[in-house]
Formats: sequence, structure tokens, C-alpha cells
Amino acid sequence: MKIKAINGFKDILPEAALRWQQIEQKARDIFERFGMCEIRMPILEKTELFSRSIGEATDIVEKEMYSFSDKGITMRPEATASLLRAFIEHGLHVQQPVQRLYTIGPMFRHERPQKGRLRQFHQMDVEIIGATEPQVDAELMAMGQMLLNDLGLTVSLEINSLGCPACRPDFRVKLITYLEARKESLCEDCRRRLATNPLRALDCKSRGCKALVQDAPSILDSLCNDCNTHFAGVEHSLNLLGVTYSKNRFMVRGLDYYTRTTFEFITDDLGAQSAVGAGGRYDGLIEQLGGPPLPGIGFAMGMERLALLMDQQTDSTIPKSSTDIFIAALGDEATEYSSMLTHKLRTLELKAAMDYSGRSLKAQMKQAGRINSRFALIIGENELVEKQAVLRNMQTQEQVTFSLNEIIDEQAERLRSIIKPEFRITEDNVII
Ligand code: HAM
Repeated sequence: MKIKAINGFKDILPEAALRWQQIEQKARDIFERFGMCEIRMPILEKTELFSRSIGEATDIVEKEMYSFSDKGITMRPEATASLLRAFIEHGLHVQQPVQRLYTIGPMFRHERPQKGRLRQFHQMDVEIIGATEPQVDAELMAMGQMLLNDLGLTVSLEINSLGCPACRPDFRVKLITYLEARKESLCEDCRRRLATNPLRALDCKSRGCKALVQDAPSILDSLCNDCNTHFAGVEHSLNLLGVTYSKNRFMVRGLDYYTRTTFEFITDDLGAQSAVGAGGRYDGLIEQLGGPPLPGIGFAMGMERLALLMDQQTDSTIPKSSTDIFIAALGDEATEYSSMLTHKLRTLELKAAMDYSGRSLKAQMKQAGRINSRFALIIGENELVEKQAVLRNMQTQEQVTFSLNEIIDEQAERLRSIIKPEFRITEDNVII
């Protein structure tokens, strides 16, 4: 029996990997334009890191973590907690008052797999640590929007504020009172969570809860003065930067660490999984994890969802990989000779390929076409004797005779000057 990949864990095959590279390259380029530096953390962390940050009463910590319970370690379900752990552990705030960091990598959640929802998925995560200003919140959302636009995607931005420890408890009481009075219409999950996590009812997908919360008190009406001013500042800055957004007072996040601004990049094109990216502010979290009392804000985009959406929404074709030159070798002596030439071309930074199997010329030329080679050099025993090979431009089908007279190093350089004319050789044999 063949062994298959585990449910919810997916291979990214070569063609799809090119799409992923395209997304990742664009993201790195934009993140760096915004002054972000890359950081990489391990996949395994102490379980306590996630229960203390994401929250004991969240779905992620309650039922979705891949934990080795006998060892007290967990495969990270998200990047923020790990990134902050590293930030605190290495005292990064000492070097710079505001740190802008990003990381890209796999995360693990034991969710029910469906379109756009996997058990191993990949996030591109960005965090700005040490800044409280609402302009920073807006800048971060503008960066997310810029990335989505550059990828050719149409995604809308929704924002909300979840208040702070000064105003959220009051809102929580108001909401519990409202929900308690209508308890029989709540779904089982929301009824169970009423005491521990009542805010989840606001974004519950069940029809009963959805209808019920339409008239529930709005968190935006319960914000304290400071949170109100901050939220107004975020809106003002988003308008200044020309970022289109809408307010969604029902948006609560599946992670407990958020304060004030939260936001989601939303689409209707991915079925049940509407969020392509999401994030928010977490002003008390760093201190809660044993670090200095610094504020922070960030977001993460899901790479699987971005790739799916690009396939659906854009006509941008997946970039094809190409090869500079394929050497078709016929016969043992020619194969040996070609292996040296291929190697030399690779040291000159050309993408060169050949086939050692001694297949027919027709089969080898087919192979050259399959790997999208721009040129093919055909070397057989006769060509070695006559010191002349055929060089074919695979796009135009034009052929020229290529002399094999000089030593291999010189041949390789001459080939490079044909394939990459920017490496022309001058008369006195200098490569420019
Ligand atoms: P999150 O909303 O849990 O937030 O995840 C962010 C994004 O990761 C989602 O919008 C989605 O695109 C992707 N994602 C999440 N779960 C899955 C899954 N099972 N399969 C595929 N994609 C998924 C966070 O993780 C926060 N750490 C974001 C953040 C950064 N907040 C502040 N800083």
C-alpha cells in the first residue's frame, strides 16, 4: 500500500511552489520597503507560551494544538507568541525603541480541513513592537492592502476596536446580560462559552446567534475615551493614506491577546474561509509574557489562501521556470565531454541541463522543450571529431555552428556571451 500524506497536510508541488515564491518575493519586497527585518523562530515552543498568550478559553488552545503532552511542548499554531518570546528572550527592544519584524513559515492547527483550511498552513506574519500611535496601525493595514493589490487581488478591509482592560469588562457585562436573557436562542458552543468567552457569540456562524447579535450592544459604543480617540486616529490615518475600509462591530478574534484595533482582510471568493489575513493590537501581551511593558500590533496572511485566491481572481499565470541551455549528448564520449561543459556553465551562473541516459536525439530535444530551455547544444561523436556542434535557439529554431576548438573554459564563456549577451567578450578576451 502506498503511504499518503496526512489529512490536512499538503505537498506544494513544483508548479505551485513557483506561485508561492512569487507571493513570498513580493511580500519580502514590500515588508522591507516598510522597514521590516526578517526573524526566524523554531516550530516547537513550550505549550505554556501559547496558553498564556492566545488564551486558555480559545478554540486554538482548547482543542486545536498539536502538543506533546508528556514533554510540555507544542507545534506553534501561530507566529506572534513565538516572535514575542524571541523578542523578549534576546532583549531586542534594547537595540531599537521600535522593532519591525516579519517571519514566514508553517503553523499547525488541528482544525477540520476544507478549502483554504489546513492543519499545516503557512503564514507571512508581521509585527511592529514599541509604538502606540494610531498612525502605525494604519500604516500596517496600508502595507497589507499594498501587498494584496500588488498580487492583483480584490480583498476588503474590515476594522473594529476591542477596547482595553479599562473598558472591555463593562462591555463584557453588558453583553453577557443581553445574551443571558436570550440564552435559549444561542447555539450550544456559545451557551457553553457565555461565562468564559462571551464575545465569540458576536462572530458565531450559527444562524440563531447571527440573528440574535444584530441588536446586541456594540463594543464601539462602550469604548473608554482613550480607546475612542485611538480608534478615531486609526480611521483618520487610514483616510489620509487612501485605504478603503469598513467598520465591523461584530469582529472578534479567535485569539485573546488583542486590545483596541483589530482588522481582517476579507473575501467572498474562498467559501467559508473568508479571512485572507488578520491581526490587531496587543498592548499588554509582551508584559504578560514576562517582557517590558511595550505595546505591539501585527497581522498574518495565510499563504494557501493567497495562492488559491490568485488562481481564482487573477489571470496572472504561474511564472514558468526556464533553463538557459540543454546539452544533448549522443554517445559515451560526448556524454563525458558534455558533463564537463555543463558543469563549467553552471559555475558561470547559467542554468544548464543535460541527460546522461543516452536516449535518442528526439527524446533529448523533447526533454529540452519540457524544461523550457532557451538553447540546445547538440554534441555527438562526429561533432567531437569535427570540433563543431549545432547550437539551436529553441524559440526561433535558428541554428548556428558552434566551434568546439578551444578549451572547455573558453567554450563555456563563449556560450555564455551568446546566451547572455550582457557577458560579451571583447577582442582582447575580457568578459564585460
Ligand atoms: P489568525 O486570524 O488566527 O491570526 O490567522 C491569520 C491568517 O492565517 C488567517 O487570516 C488565515 O489566512 C490564515 N490561517 C489561519 N488558520 C488557517 C488554517 N487552518 N488554514 C489555512 N490558513 C489559515 C493569527 O494567527 C495572529 N497571530 C495574527 C496576528 C499577528 N495578530 C497580531 N499579529
